[in-house]
Amino acid sequence: MKWWQSAVVYHIYPRSFQDSNGDGIGDIPGIISRLDYLEQLGITAIWLGPVYQSPNDDNGYDISDYRAIHPDFGTMADMEKLIDEANKRNIKLIMDLVVNHTSDEHEWFKDAKQNKDNPYRDYYIWRDPVNGGPPNDLRSTFSGSAWAFDEQTGQYYLHLFSKKQPDLNWENEKVRHEVYDMMNFWLDKGIGGFRMDVIDLIGKVPDEGITANGPKLHEYLKEMHEQTFKGRDVMTVGETWGATPETAKLYSHPDRNELSMVFQFEHITLDEQPNQSKWDLKTLEIKDLKEVLSKWQEELKGDGWNSLFWNNHDTPRIVSRWGNDLKYRVESAKSFAILLHLMKGTPYIYQGEEIGMTNRHITSIDEVDDIESRNMYAERLAEGYSKEDILHSINVKGRDNARTPVQWDDSEQAGFTSGTPWLPVQPNKNDINVKEALENKESIFYTYKALVRMRKDNPIVVWGEYKQLLPDHPTLFAYKRLYKGEEWVVVANMSEKELNGISLDSAKEVENIMISNYNRDDIDLNNLFLKPYETVAVKLKG
Ligand code: GLC
Ligand code: CA
Repeated sequence: MKWWQSAVVYHIYPRSFQDSNGDGIGDIPGIISRLDYLEQLGITAIWLGPVYQSPNDDNGYDISDYRAIHPDFGTMADMEKLIDEANKRNIKLIMDLVVNHTSDEHEWFKDAKQNKDNPYRDYYIWRDPVNGGPPNDLRSTFSGSAWAFDEQTGQYYLHLFSKKQPDLNWENEKVRHEVYDMMNFWLDKGIGGFRMDVIDLIGKVPDEGITANGPKLHEYLKEMHEQTFKGRDVMTVGETWGATPETAKLYSHPDRNELSMVFQFEHITLDEQPNQSKWDLKTLEIKDLKEVLSKWQEELKGDGWNSLFWNNHDTPRIVSRWGNDLKYRVESAKSFAILLHLMKGTPYIYQGEEIGMTNRHITSIDEVDDIESRNMYAERLAEGYSKEDILHSINVKGRDNARTPVQWDDSEQAGFTSGTPWLPVQPNKNDINVKEALENKESIFYTYKALVRMRKDNPIVVWGEYKQLLPDHPTLFAYKRLYKGEEWVVVANMSEKELNGISLDSAKEVENIMISNYNRDDIDLNNLFLKPYETVAVKLKG
């Protein structure tokens, strides 16, 4: 058993968590000042978004020095203090590892583009023009071609994200060893592991159009493991947008010595048109969600490990996306929490999720900070989409949705900053904030706190086998957990319509209600009546 198997991880997006010096940007001293709050929530680890030196073309995911802290966030001494203060509270610090690409302002790239013979040239991926244009039609995730032309040397370099994020050449052994050295530098400082940004892209073969899941991907991860984590008790989670249960087992099978787990996104993309982009929307069918999440639960048992999440800094907030962030905000937020946290795997809470923060609404592109949304807007406008359509997609799926400052209290800037925040504080901060949540025993916060505790206290939550119940029901999500003769049942009405008279054909009676979002004190599993978003977890009699 590993510590991360019973852990709950809290994801901090540093720019938006807590500002300490009034410049409107969240920082490391700000995080340190909120560690007591996180300790109260009970989490085991923090996944900290990138705080390294960066020109911020993609908010820190474009790193120009892996061994330096961006002055906006503080100093190396602040970072060491954060690790230390977190460790004192038994909270591990998981850092973001962004090594598919660097910034174009990284020393390696500055050297590489000097001339074709530069020793760093081969740290990146360069190709000659073909017919006066890019080598092939690979596209960047942030719109347009994935190839940028460098005038000085007459070649194209690959960038799967922005032009300012040139892809590293993992074929080059020197690159790999630079990365491992840097990882050891941080591991030696006492961090608890890494979240690995778009790690499934490092084995790419651009000439064959292969980006994710390249042929050498697992070889590199094994080498990385050997050179860095081996003999250290750390956790690693890979960001893998294209993972299937089969590939997830390759990454996370304990005998393979690669990663602890990966983030899979199959459930997240269920509201997108198949084979189109994330901006092309469709209505979520709850049945699909049940099927996908249950498939992952069932297929990874024993051979791998799941991560469990609803949202992060790249995706909309779940309460706004699939819940109801007005009439049933509290009920639906608690429902999503209970449903996910009682599954098998390591749950992640994204900052503000624990108080039910909501998506941001914009009416003009001028309000948008995120490079992905801005590039897509320009591209789609040129292709003839209407402004209204594009803004709608951004309001639903844009990354700024989840990046607004954490609402700590109801003061002018919600306790986030004394200055002007880099992204505006949401107008609903008067009702939705941490101070209110802590004072109100019925708040979403206390549901999360109870769920974190439940995982620590009940081996069945960590280890129990998972079985989906009533898979064909269109809006009731029901499942069972089983462990050493103990049985729990979770039922969630995932709609605004009441559910009536449903039977789970349970032979066993209910012993205890473990948690619920309407303060239930009894329930009949063979004649269920559930209010809008009502969700209940029970323990059955032995
Ligand atoms: C990951 C990050 C995202 C970033 C991208 C490029 O998806 O989570 O924020 O833009 O990688 O580094
Ligand atoms: Ca600051």
